[in-house]
Amino acid sequence: TNVQALAEACNNNGGVDDLQLPVPDRYLSKEPGAEEVVAGGDANCAIPVIDLDRLVDPRSSSSECAKLVSACHHWGFFQYPYVQLINHGVPDQVIGNLKSDVVEFFKQPLEDKQECSQQPGSLEGYGQAFVVSEDQKLDWGDMLVIQVQPSESRDLRFWPTRPPSFRNSVDAYSLEARELGYRLMEFMAKGVGAEPASLLGAFRGQGQSMRANYYPPCRQAADRVLGLSPHTDASGLTLLLQINNDVHGLQVKKDGKWFAVEAMDGAFIVNVGDGLEIMSNGKFTSVEHRAVIHPTKERISVALFFFPLPNMTVGPLPEFTKGDKLRYRSTSYQDYLKQYFAGKLEERKHVEKLK
Ligand code: SIN
Ligand code: FE2
Repeated sequence: TNVQALAEACNNNGGVDDLQLPVPDRYLSKEPGAEEVVAGGDANCAIPVIDLDRLVDPRSSSSECAKLVSACHHWGFFQYPYVQLINHGVPDQVIGNLKSDVVEFFKQPLEDKQECSQQPGSLEGYGQAFVVSEDQKLDWGDMLVIQVQPSESRDLRFWPTRPPSFRNSVDAYSLEARELGYRLMEFMAKGVGAEPASLLGAFRGQGQSMRANYYPPCRQAADRVLGLSPHTDASGLTLLLQINNDVHGLQVKKDGKWFAVEAMDGAFIVNVGDGLEIMSNGKFTSVEHRAVIHPTKERISVALFFFPLPNMTVGPLPEFTKGDKLRYRSTSYQDYLKQYFAGKLEERKHVEKLK
């Protein structure tokens, strides 16, 4: 099912309620009021702001680095395990082009978008996420997933040809974001006393994929549907851009409560995925998050994932285990992914810890 089209049928009543399609049961995945949600901007809890200029400047580098590492490790008393990154150096124009082309892509008629539909057995293309069984609840959102780097791994069947600038915009963005990702990894390694080359070596020349998310509004039941169900990312590192920054939807979980993540306009939202948690032997931790839906406004976001190529073995890197016991089992990334996409995502069985 295409959720954008479904949402149009459910939302559009032209003022006549009985012409409106009810939201199908399969999308009603939560009970309103059954869980506590802490609003963004809560004075007691904020997403740490990391300034790349300060990371690079020798006078401020070590304190900024410490802040980065702490944010990527755990919930501090007053801060989220997320980072909003400013002065990131990715040119406004590169981001602007990407944003407008992604918006244009989703605006097209369904048949046009379906030119890059998901194919059986492939994780790429336009469609839905994480559908693993016939009876599971479904997310209120559509996505376009493409592998963007290394460039020879691209499968152009899934790359939109409209708008005509789409491919160039994504290419330019992925190159800029890749440099940014490497720089962050460099400082993250430094911050925990590891050689930057260890982490960079594990990610340089590896994979990068992009997921553009389209979350339509849900006028009837915004509090009962989810745009993206709770999960941790399979990636090493994730860089997220929100396209319409007036609509927030990302939430992160702590002690059974959900906290709204509201980033500043123009900032990248950064989080650690399972891959980097394992490689860093738990020095950085992957966070459980989800996306919620607005009753009247659509929301679009673009996530860029850095991950090891499938033939890589993912395990704690020696630089991160010095003087520490091994906390995670090594596994081929391919096997890990198989488990990730087959399993119940919330349980994180795919991250095998050594007791
Ligand atoms: C994601 O989980 O990667 C995307 C969440 C969002 O759209 O904010
Ligand atoms: Fe995610």
